Amino acid sequence: MEYESIAKEKILKKLEDFQKYDYKYSDGRILGSMCTSAHPFAKKIFYKFLDSNLGDPGLFKGTKAIEKEVIKSIGVLLSNENAYGNVVTGGTEANIMAIRAARNFARKHKNIENGEIILPKSAHFSFKKATDLMNLKIIEIELDDNYIMDLSSIEDNISSNTIAIVGIAGTTELGLIDPIEELSKIAIKYNIYLHVDAAFGGFSIPFLKNSGYNLPNFDFSLKGVSSISIDPHKMGLAPIPSGCILFREKEYLDVMAVNSPYLTTKKQSTIVGTRLGASAAATLAIMDYLGFRGYEKIAMELMNNTKFLKENLIKDGYVLTVEPQLNIISFNHPNIDTYDLANELEKKGWYVSISSCPVSIRIVLMKHIKKSHLKEFILDLREINKNY
Ligand SMILES: Cc1ncc(COP(=O)(O)O)c(C=O)c1O
Repeated sequence: MEYESIAKEKILKKLEDFQKYDYKYSDGRILGSMCTSAHPFAKKIFYKFLDSNLGDPGLFKGTKAIEKEVIKSIGVLLSNENAYGNVVTGGTEANIMAIRAARNFARKHKNIENGEIILPKSAHFSFKKATDLMNLKIIEIELDDNYIMDLSSIEDNISSNTIAIVGIAGTTELGLIDPIEELSKIAIKYNIYLHVDAAFGGFSIPFLKNSGYNLPNFDFSLKGVSSISIDPHKMGLAPIPSGCILFREKEYLDVMAVNSPYLTTKKQSTIVGTRLGASAAATLAIMDYLGFRGYEKIAMELMNNTKFLKENLIKDGYVLTVEPQLNIISFNHPNIDTYDLANELEKKGWYVSISSCPVSIRIVLMKHIKKSHLKEFILDLREINKNY
């Protein structure tokens, strides 16, 4: 069998022809994505570190030091500069690592083999992958009237098999923050591992709080919090794939470690073996470049856009599911079916997503969506509205 060599120009043309079918963030019409165009500086650095393999850190000591610095900087952001952890591929891998740490810790210290994890109905589906992989059971907690985890039923669901409680800081569908402070108290009372999934909210909640937004605490300042997922490739403006998992104790990494005999380090705790050093380098680059002030400015700008869209939707008769806490808006029209509305919007070139709980149009106001795009979007919504 032959795989014929092709001239570079032809290959480039072929790939660009495929790429034409991709939607572009810069058009401002991708309205339902939690990712965005990475900062150009981060992309440049990413390319420079493409050959660095964090899976073999003895060969890439410099890149390993970069990863440590990322974890330290994000630790500062999350109130624990002494946290331990890794740069991973994203929220899914971070959540799988957290659940694996909780499972192995419970195995070692509590003799629980196939435990249960308690999480809200709003949790990301990555936890289903984690529990499926590890043969764990999910106990799903209903949401309260404000669509956050209903505290009243958590303690009733704790059993001698519970290995972890999960709370979300910035839910995928509605961008809401669970009552982590109360979850932390429960975790301490029952001596249970508490994981906070801040994959989306981690790069905005601290900055918004700093500039006066009244948002709940969610980070390591709460003594019951054992680990936090936070994604640089969402609100952190780093290139895909860049996620982070931070642990309060080193032991959570140790209980996951397996021997890695042929490599330069003899133990490995991450799920992935060969790992992109580029993600760590680009994340550090963009964090150093923007600084906390830069992120704060972006977070505020996105909240201003959220407010602008919210006010116009209400003015035009749309009904919001809930008051947004972060830069996600969920809404419906009282007389238009949600799926029909999404279809009409797509015909006009807008790519929204549809939330499941409750069924509604979901807009994630990421940095690529400018006010000018929102103005056009509002006009198109009015046009659709008129024809119903
Ligand atoms: C809260 C939350 N956690 C985890 C994830 C999974 O992240 P990823 O798609 O980067 O694996 C998402 C993705 O949207 C998310 O919103």
